[in-house]
Amino acid sequence: MSVPRHVAIIMDGNGRWAAVRGMARIKGHKAGVQAVERILDEASALGIPHLSLYAFSTENWKRPALEVAALMALLRMYLRMFVQKLQKRQIRFHHLGDLSGMPEGIQRDVKELERLTAHHTGMTFHLAVNYGSRSELVHAARACVLDGLKPQEITEQAIQDRLWTKGVPDVDLLIRTSGEHRISNFLLWQCAYAEFFMTDTLWPDFGPEALRAALEDFSSRERRFGGL
Ligand code: FPP
Repeated sequence: MSVPRHVAIIMDGNGRWAAVRGMARIKGHKAGVQAVERILDEASALGIPHLSLYAFSTENWKRPALEVAALMALLRMYLRMFVQKLQKRQIRFHHLGDLSGMPEGIQRDVKELERLTAHHTGMTFHLAVNYGSRSELVHAARACVLDGLKPQEITEQAIQDRLWTKGVPDVDLLIRTSGEHRISNFLLWQCAYAEFFMTDTLWPDFGPEALRAALEDFSSRERRFGGL
């Protein structure tokens, strides 16, 4: 089985997972965080160098205020609880998205977790919160202007170096759960040649076997990157 350098996951289906059990949506998100923990363990054990998880998009602010508040509280709680696991597995934490648009407490916790794990030598866990790919590209374009680049100096590399994923390899495998087949503004630039794996499994049910099945499927793909 070939191990992708960068696996990105759109975690979808928490709400439906809760609904079929007659539970509140936030219970689905709580179960979703447990799935995050299992996938972190498995991905790091499999030797995947970069794992990106889409937790909250720039569009998710449109959800009911109560759900947004509950998601933020959950995120805050786990940012603090993750420290031990990340230390044990030597996982580096990295946030993707516009941190300035987040509540101040979360901004502090994100920076602290990045600082505490910066020296770790294992997998990098990129958590996308308040992330939107179009916003990332606008941010990179503005940075080119602010850096005084001339038009001919605006190359693919120049853009790449100004993305939140600076220095991170392109996505090899993009997984989306819950039977949806959309990219939803996630890592559009970085997914240019990604292989897509869509599964009906709802995110809280996505476990180590499901991840290994996605990697098996990825191993069977013939990647030509536009060549023959
Ligand atoms: C999609 O399910 C899920 C989200 C928008 C949030 C994902 C967040 C988590 C798993 C928690 C992340 C937190 C940490 C600490 C990593 P949905 O609500 O869109 O489900 P539905 O499509 O069934 O309604």
